[in-house]
Amino acid sequence: MDVAVIGGGYVGLVQAAGMAHLGHRVRVGEADPAKLEELEAGRLPIYEKGLAELMDEGRAGGRLTFHGSNVDAASTADVTFLCLPTPPGVDGAADLSVVEAVVRELAHALEAGSIVVIKSTVPVGTTSRLAKRLAGRLRLVGNPEFLREGSAVTDFLRPDRVVIGADDEDAAEVVASLYEGLDARVLRTDLTSAELIKYGANGYLATRLTFVNALANIADSVGADILDVVEGMGLDPRIGPHFLRPGPGYGGSCFPKDTIALLATSRQAGYEFTLLQSVVDADRSQRHWIVGNIRRMLGGDLADKRIGMWGVAFKAGTDDIRESPALKIASMLRSEGAVIAASDPEAHSLDVEMAPDPIAAAKGAELLVVATEWPEFRSVDMTEVAAVMSGTAVYDLRNLLDPARVRNAGLTYQALGRPHA
Ligand code: UDX
Repeated sequence: MDVAVIGGGYVGLVQAAGMAHLGHRVRVGEADPAKLEELEAGRLPIYEKGLAELMDEGRAGGRLTFHGSNVDAASTADVTFLCLPTPPGVDGAADLSVVEAVVRELAHALEAGSIVVIKSTVPVGTTSRLAKRLAGRLRLVGNPEFLREGSAVTDFLRPDRVVIGADDEDAAEVVASLYEGLDARVLRTDLTSAELIKYGANGYLATRLTFVNALANIADSVGADILDVVEGMGLDPRIGPHFLRPGPGYGGSCFPKDTIALLATSRQAGYEFTLLQSVVDADRSQRHWIVGNIRRMLGGDLADKRIGMWGVAFKAGTDDIRESPALKIASMLRSEGAVIAASDPEAHSLDVEMAPDPIAAAKGAELLVVATEWPEFRSVDMTEVAAVMSGTAVYDLRNLLDPARVRNAGLTYQALGRPHA
């Protein structure tokens, strides 16, 4: 079928390349001229494992083209996916201005009854409100994305589920048929439930993660090993082993935004979601807890202390630094006078001095913080690190490194929730 994807970002490019891989003819609308130029030249403006290959396959098969005009992209499409940004507004609720502008544009340009799929994460109730306003002109369907950055291509090709929210049966059938090439459970529901599935999933995962981070802090104080604790917890099939790794808190373009948006939605719905508010507060506290530990490790004062940081991306496998806990911690350390040098295999930040490699980032450092769990950091020669550092402290926020290798190099090792590692 003919598919349009409006928005060539982290989600849109995976959706477009994935749909082309399934045999559909895909036209991407991208408004940013610089990004469009990159895409037309066959270059990817983002780092996402496996995406370049999928894009090349689609282009080589003549099933993937890029357009500066949304109407050019969508005018011949059977289905148009909106993969547009919905960043948090001033009150935390999502800013829908881009989505609403494109919906208005398409409502005027496309044939009556054209199917437009909202893949962007929009506040609960949005799609239903838009569908009513556009009745007779566009048929709106909800199809939230569950793509994790760093594994987005795999998540598209092997999804746990495809959620389709619709109040128009035919339109839902058309959208469901696009995914037939995937062996996936298709869950059909109404527009509003589809939106709440997305927020509910991310809100729950953020809660799960924040709970584990709190347990890690307790483990540090009571002398338990958090990795044994989460392994033991994860053996309960009601909990499961995934998504239990303690760290500096959650970042990225979704959890921080979606938890705040869900709080705004619940407030507007007349329900004070105190549990989720406590998760948001606890996630912020996790960074203060870590900065407090670092301050203590450096004698109680961070002024002029040089700190090496391994990782600035919000997590391994991506170059995305949006809401990165590493950079938030770096900013807090710098506000107390610390000097930060960071290294990351893919991501780059203008907020800290970026060193060319992990050893250079550790040069002259009194303390080294492992902030993002890039596997590359595990193979760095720690004796070389010890030779260039001015201090000996390594603080591993991701429990990534082998404590014995660190200690054998003459360094001290502290992690999250592993006081006896
Ligand atoms: C998330 C959801 O997983 C995905 O379904 C949704 O579509 C988009 O938001 P993403 O933000 O890419 O995906 O990253 P994810 O892998 O979920 O991690 C979110 C945050 O939690 C990251 O900061 C990550 O470092 C952190 N995390 C995750 C941990 O600290 N420990 C874990 O065990 C898992």
